[in-house]
Amino acid sequence: MMTVRKSVFKDPNKLSLSYIPQRIPHRETKLQQLKDYFDGVLNGEINYEHVFIIGNSGTGKTLVARHLERYVRDKAGNKVIPIYVNCRLERSPGNIIRKMINSVTMNTVSRGYSLEEIYNAFLRHLSDGDIKALLILDDSDHLFDNHKDFIYKLSRAEEASPEFMSRLSLLFIVHRDDIFSKLDPWTSAGLHKNVVYFEDYTYNELLDILVIRSQEAFYEESILFETLQVAADTATAYNFNARYAIELLYKAGLIADRRREKIVKPEHVRLARNETPPSFSLEELKGLQLHEKILLYSIAELLSSSGRSFVTTGEVEKRYRENAVYFHVKPVGHTWLWKMINVLSTFGLISKRRSGAGQRGKTTLIGLPSFPANLLIKSLLEMIRDERRAEV
Ligand SMILES: Nc1ncnc2c1ncn2[C@@H]1O[C@H](COP(=O)(O)OP(=O)(O)OP(=O)(O)O)[C@@H](O)[C@H]1O
Ligand SMILES: [Mg+2]
Repeated sequence: MMTVRKSVFKDPNKLSLSYIPQRIPHRETKLQQLKDYFDGVLNGEINYEHVFIIGNSGTGKTLVARHLERYVRDKAGNKVIPIYVNCRLERSPGNIIRKMINSVTMNTVSRGYSLEEIYNAFLRHLSDGDIKALLILDDSDHLFDNHKDFIYKLSRAEEASPEFMSRLSLLFIVHRDDIFSKLDPWTSAGLHKNVVYFEDYTYNELLDILVIRSQEAFYEESILFETLQVAADTATAYNFNARYAIELLYKAGLIADRRREKIVKPEHVRLARNETPPSFSLEELKGLQLHEKILLYSIAELLSSSGRSFVTTGEVEKRYRENAVYFHVKPVGHTWLWKMINVLSTFGLISKRRSGAGQRGKTTLIGLPSFPANLLIKSLLEMIRDERRAEV
């Protein structure tokens, strides 16, 4: 007798963003390259190494870094401790340093110590225990804008405590390759510039990835190959983004289930596409600070009500101030506002361009590439309200 299944999914969690798949088609050589760089540290030939992963969103950077982390843990035992930090969530050097010390010792550092002291305690701990650390700084673009001195400190650990040799390896994961030009010569000179580029996936590569990911998530007979093709094709239109392709597949499965259909078909992907703006992840918004959320909210409001493609920074500043009052928070100053605009732009949440060259009174225009303003407004409003409520 045929079993009646309630869902096309064998295990929908296999398509969740936090799941780390075992197999990583088209990224094995990148992982191997990274292993080669750090193997010297693992087997004691060198004390530390610095490596950069550079690539667009959804090209498997985080995934490969997670595999590397596991490799280091398995291979080096307790001798080299991998420390993974998502710099979108841990924004300040202080948070990063606290995470570092908590990863190497159970003794919580009591409040009242300066960051300098905590950093030194971290280095001393490595030295005393004759261990090393590999610090993985994921999505760390903004450190190169706002915290160059911190990068200097990390890369010159031996200067913080001259009695210790440096035992801190660094893996920076960033999106753009202009980061080096932002550093001052001293910081730049101290960094080993080993770069592993993650190119955008091609259509065929995406298809291979989807085949493997769907085998884990769906029953074999519950999804058509054509469905995967349409998902890969749709994602191709948005910069070959694997995250988007996987999200589409997941949503397509949900839609099939909702309609009580037994097979996920191309049309389900198309329906999913209408519901899913590309590269949009609410998780990313949650990592923003309150004022950044209010700023982004203001930009979305302006663009949604005006029907225009861009707004000026002057308009944005004005609306941000009004909204700060509305949400009962003290607005930040002009300079800080500019910093926040840069942060949002670095994260790809907004675009920023100078208005027509040669024109008098040039200004900066802000756009919202590929994110529906109304969805942003709705999500941010909820988040801002929750955050304000939690504070009172
Ligand atoms: N080669 C691959 N094989 C299987 N799954 C993949 C592969 N590449 C990416 N993915 C999946 O695609 C999604 C996006 O990958 P990942 O998070 O690593 O991208 P990223 O480069 O870190 O993007 P961002 O810059 O936005 O953080 C994840 O769910 C990941 O598991
Ligand atoms: Mg990532």
